[in-house]
Amino acid sequence: SGERPKDVDYSSPDRGTRVRVYGRVHRERKQAHVVFVTLRDGFGYMQCVLTGPLAKTFDAITLTRETSMMITGEMWEVPPGAHAPDNRELHADYFEVIGKAPGGDDAITNKVQAKGDAQTLLDQRHLVLRGETAASVMFVRDAVEHAFNTKFHELHYVKVSPPALVQTQVEGGSTLFEFDYYNEKAYLTQSSQLYLETALPFAGNCYCIEKSFRAEKSLTRRHLSEYTHVEAELDFIKFDDLLTHLEDIICGVIDITLSNPRMAKMIQDLNPSFEKPSRPFKRMRYSDAITWLNEHDIKNENDQPHEFGDDIAEAAERRMTDILAVPILLTHFPVAIKAFYMQKDAEDPRVTESVDVLMPGVGEIVGGSMRMDDYAELMEAYKRNGIGAEPYYWYTDQRRYGTSPHGGYGLGLERFLAWLCGQHTVRDTCFYPRYMGRCRP
Ligand code: 4AD
Ligand code: MG
Repeated sequence: SGERPKDVDYSSPDRGTRVRVYGRVHRERKQAHVVFVTLRDGFGYMQCVLTGPLAKTFDAITLTRETSMMITGEMWEVPPGAHAPDNRELHADYFEVIGKAPGGDDAITNKVQAKGDAQTLLDQRHLVLRGETAASVMFVRDAVEHAFNTKFHELHYVKVSPPALVQTQVEGGSTLFEFDYYNEKAYLTQSSQLYLETALPFAGNCYCIEKSFRAEKSLTRRHLSEYTHVEAELDFIKFDDLLTHLEDIICGVIDITLSNPRMAKMIQDLNPSFEKPSRPFKRMRYSDAITWLNEHDIKNENDQPHEFGDDIAEAAERRMTDILAVPILLTHFPVAIKAFYMQKDAEDPRVTESVDVLMPGVGEIVGGSMRMDDYAELMEAYKRNGIGAEPYYWYTDQRRYGTSPHGGYGLGLERFLAWLCGQHTVRDTCFYPRYMGRCRP
């Protein structure tokens, strides 16, 4: 029946299972007496073959992409040459239209993606998400988040859920979203770190996956104003343990994600050149990075050679990471450019026991450190950073009620995904991205 490619043998032993499927028309292709409809339901894609009167009816009511429908028929297994997803086809004997879509350019997905400028695509995000690329990134995102939970639980870390509405800053006042909380000043959390530290005494090693908020006033491909932050805190450790753990968690999450064949295929399709990082990661001290940048004639933000104490700007950091082309554990940043809570290095008090994980294509995906565990030193640090200690009493108390050497980190899930899925910007790894100038849809 109908016209099919000649080299395909459709007489499959597996034909015959009757099924009913619901989904949306992902694409359709017409031949003389046959219509091929690929239905999409989130779980997968199903090629449905409509022949005879069904094909005519389908044609007559001009079914468009994104129309939702129900189709019943017989499942046939088909050989790979037939180009049917998962090598199966549904040979339809009945269909019902549930919700017709208008068709044309507003029927989105591949069409909009091909034509659209970035802002239109973001305005139409609700439709763009129906396209294969955007949807794949969302599926990988789900799998990766799941893998973090799996890996942390394998390591017996306890998940806690810190508050999003807070009255303390973590990463500097300039990126705080402030709001009125029943006539008190409050902020959207920048990081759950301080709260996680208070979980150590009852939970031991712990983690959270929560939103963090930053009022970033610049538009870059890796800054969001709302992002998902994977944070962990480790008790009774040395700095080196933190570095080893970071390799462990990153490689573990990649392994778990890739062990799912559907995810492995999506990642392969999204990012064909992805290679699982090999351990140990390259380790580099901040001071050596400064030397390296100068050797490679990469200038600082004032177009001058880098000096000890400079912040390594996004562009310079990414160039270095792209040239080295491997994950880097960049350590021992100067005290002056790092957050108030960071432990100083015992051998060189100019620097902190801090680490950023840098990935090719993205740059920094993780920021972490050992935490100041001495009460007096922490009080000094508040002062040096112009932070009033009072709102931090609960954080400070950790140093009074049984302090411990501990450290932790935060990983930006969107940056991790941009690296894993080979996406140019973190905006494409969000369900609905939020950044300066965009708060819709
Ligand atoms: O380096 P950051 O600011 O470190 C902290 O917030 C620590 N308190 C975390 C901790 O130790 N628990 O942020 C950590 C990571 C960055 O490496 C980056 O991946 C991500 O969070 N991040 C952002 N991602 C998207 N948009 C932004 N505006 C981000 N700011 C930070
Ligand atoms: Mg950082």
